[in-house]
Amino acid sequence: MSVWRRSLSFATRPRPQFPYGTGQPIHETRPHSINPGDITPGISAEEYYQRRVRLAHKLPPSSVAIVSGSSVQFASGSVFHPFQQNTDLFYLSGWNEPDTVIAVEVDANHEMTFHMVVPPKNPHKDKWEGDKSGLEGAYDVFNADIVVDSHQGKRHLTELVDKAQHVFIDSTKPQLASLGLSSALNQLSGRSGAKPVAPIIAKLRAIKSASEQRVMAAAAKASSRAIHHAIATSTNTPFRQEKTLARFLDYSFVLHGCDGPAYIPVVASGANALTIHYTRNDDVIYDDELVFIDAGGKLGGYCADISRAWPHRGKFSEPQKDLYSVVLECNKQCIDHCVPSNSLHDIHEVSVSLLLKGLQQLPGFSHVSRTEVARSLYPHYIGHHLGIDLHDVPSVSRFDPLQPGNVVTIEPGLYIPKDDKWPKHYQGIGIRVEDDVVVGSSSATITNLTAGCVKEIADIEALIANGVTTPGVGEEQLNLL
Ligand code: GLY
Ligand code: MN
Ligand code: MN
Repeated sequence: MSVWRRSLSFATRPRPQFPYGTGQPIHETRPHSINPGDITPGISAEEYYQRRVRLAHKLPPSSVAIVSGSSVQFASGSVFHPFQQNTDLFYLSGWNEPDTVIAVEVDANHEMTFHMVVPPKNPHKDKWEGDKSGLEGAYDVFNADIVVDSHQGKRHLTELVDKAQHVFIDSTKPQLASLGLSSALNQLSGRSGAKPVAPIIAKLRAIKSASEQRVMAAAAKASSRAIHHAIATSTNTPFRQEKTLARFLDYSFVLHGCDGPAYIPVVASGANALTIHYTRNDDVIYDDELVFIDAGGKLGGYCADISRAWPHRGKFSEPQKDLYSVVLECNKQCIDHCVPSNSLHDIHEVSVSLLLKGLQQLPGFSHVSRTEVARSLYPHYIGHHLGIDLHDVPSVSRFDPLQPGNVVTIEPGLYIPKDDKWPKHYQGIGIRVEDDVVVGSSSATITNLTAGCVKEIADIEALIANGVTTPGVGEEQLNLL
């Protein structure tokens, strides 16, 4: 599989010729990162088609499901944020360009037609912003059956809705900035009888296909290597500031094969970790404190989500070791519960019990109650579904039994406030150990995608003492899939 990749020559490779110019990366224009047959890294054109077929099967005859994309958002003036596509649209098409609407139409005989309403190429705009895939790309690469210039989008979508007996469209305010599409979609979603489409797509997204699991495994592997790279770097040149480590992680995710970070990381020295979503990352890192990170890379649109903690100067203190061991044991046992007989909520209840039991064994904690653990010392949930979104498809209930192919995070933590109710030497320590887990059909087939990311105390201390020896860590990766 990797032969064609290894044969790339950076000195002599001819620039790929592609008649439609270069919109978002595709195999023809970026062969180093997208394999033949794939539309996005690791996900084939056939799989995107099958996703639409599965959606069509959930719709009644004579219906249309409309999903609007996003526009570029601006921070201030002409400074824009990185483009973030509506993830439902991305899931169904792989299309990652702004100002687009897609529709899956099902006729009376249950035949499916895939519509894309996309901005046309605009030589003046494209000269500044770069080529777009345009109508040609939507038709030839993204396999739309009917492609419509977004200037005619309002009329086309209105006609589709007028002729359908059942309309599925989200009522949340679409983010489309241009061409009156936003107001058109608002009107259409407000029509009587229109139902939301997101809950139907959420059920499809919750079960990850074999290809999705491979992409997520690659994102997890790259992210794990990046975190090892960061820990090993502190052997000789310890990071002095949270922000330096935060940026190093962002860089290292890309170095190891991701497209970029999946989210703004938490990089917290010592008691800063007591703020669960500490993203200021603006303190110095103290020698005697734990470094806590919650960080992950994104590859082909799929997220990794990892939390780890390590002693800045290489050796856990006894109190750090005590609390870390309780959280780690809870993490390991909860991973073993990722089977279909349990819901995420069941696993959360297990995690509270395990943390309570573990804490009660520690000196000064014998009086701790379950309520204090659940409300104060461990104030968040055991985990969430993970995928194209970091908190993937939140509409899937925590009380539903897990299903094989779900990917969930398992992330117990303990955060001891600076309150003399708790033993002094444990105060100000915050730890979470987070892994990304594919639910198995039984305990024998659970897969921990982040198992390669060091978490045993002895392994962490050895990694800091020795620097890293794992092959691939610190080496630039072109294509993990
Ligand atoms: N990184 C955010 C979370 O773990 O949910
Ligand atoms: Mn996380
Ligand atoms: Mn998480």
